[in-house]
Amino acid sequence: MHPSATADESAVGGAGSIIGAESRIERGARLAPYALVDSHCVVGERAIVGSHAVVHHHVTLGAGVQLGAHVVVHPFTTVGAGTVVGDHAVLGKPPRLRVGSAAASAEPLAGLWVGEDATIGAHAVVNAAAVVGDRTIVGDQSFVRERARIGADTVVGRGSTVDCDVVVGEHVSIQTDVYVTAHSVVEDHVFLGPGVLTTNDDRMGRRVLDADGEPDPAGIVLDGATIRRGARVGGRAVLVPGVEVGADAFVAAGAVVTRDVAPGRRVIGVPARDAGAVPDEDLLD
Ligand SMILES: CC(C)(COP(=O)(O)OP(=O)(O)OC[C@H]1O[C@@H](n2cnc3c(N)ncnc32)[C@H](O)[C@@H]1OP(=O)(O)O)[C@@H](O)C(=O)NCCC(=O)NCCS
Repeated sequence: MHPSATADESAVGGAGSIIGAESRIERGARLAPYALVDSHCVVGERAIVGSHAVVHHHVTLGAGVQLGAHVVVHPFTTVGAGTVVGDHAVLGKPPRLRVGSAAASAEPLAGLWVGEDATIGAHAVVNAAAVVGDRTIVGDQSFVRERARIGADTVVGRGSTVDCDVVVGEHVSIQTDVYVTAHSVVEDHVFLGPGVLTTNDDRMGRRVLDADGEPDPAGIVLDGATIRRGARVGGRAVLVPGVEVGADAFVAAGAVVTRDVAPGRRVIGVPARDAGAVPDEDLLD
């Protein structure tokens, strides 16, 4: 333990654990063997840092947080009280982008913020500057990219990706292997079935070049999906760039949605065609 660090006398440091400068380990917290907590961190009351976990500098872990074995938490991440993080998860990862990537931001990325009583699954990766709401579950092996904002009480299923700059609401159910592409909006109470695929680039990577012949990020227009409150999208449906699925609409499994879907309508097929109204009893309120 660094001489400038402080640890409550009831805190436990396992064999080989390391505590960096100015860090504070609160009452009843426990560092498992070989856990590393770098400088300027707070490990809240009763929090557990798993064996071989690496908590980089300026991280705050709330009371009762549990980090599994081999978890890596990057600088300036905040994890709310009661959140549980599975083995090998990576939190607050800074992205490394190719030159000219449309995902680049002018501003430096802030730290990741995870709310209270959330669950981050084993092997999940949640990038810097993302926000994960209270009680939300980010499933095993799933991936949340930088600047994505996920509301409270939402589930991101196993192996799903929420891309950069996506906004996901509250009480959303994103099932297994879903891809929510960059710049999409998913409102409250939406249901995305397994394997739903959204897209955002009709030019499929053909870049606009600037005067020097370099890729011009300003010339790239990415147009994600907009899925309104309470809409449901069936398994393996595909949404082409920029479509809007209206509130309480229903997209059948396997549909390819090429036009906006009006609120409260059902669409089926390839390309998706109107197939009547959603029954009243299936409307949210
Ligand atoms: C749309 C859906 C609800 C079926 O609706 P339905 O009104 O009960 O449809 P029916 O089974 O009566 O079939 C009516 C016709 O539509 C066709 N059809 C049904 N579902 C279809 C689909 N998803 N895509 C294309 N055609 C479909 C049927 O083959 C049938 O055609 P036919 O009249 O030529 O024989 C179902 O296909 C579906 O998409 N469910 C969503 C499941 C899902 O993804 N859940 C996610 C969580 S697991």
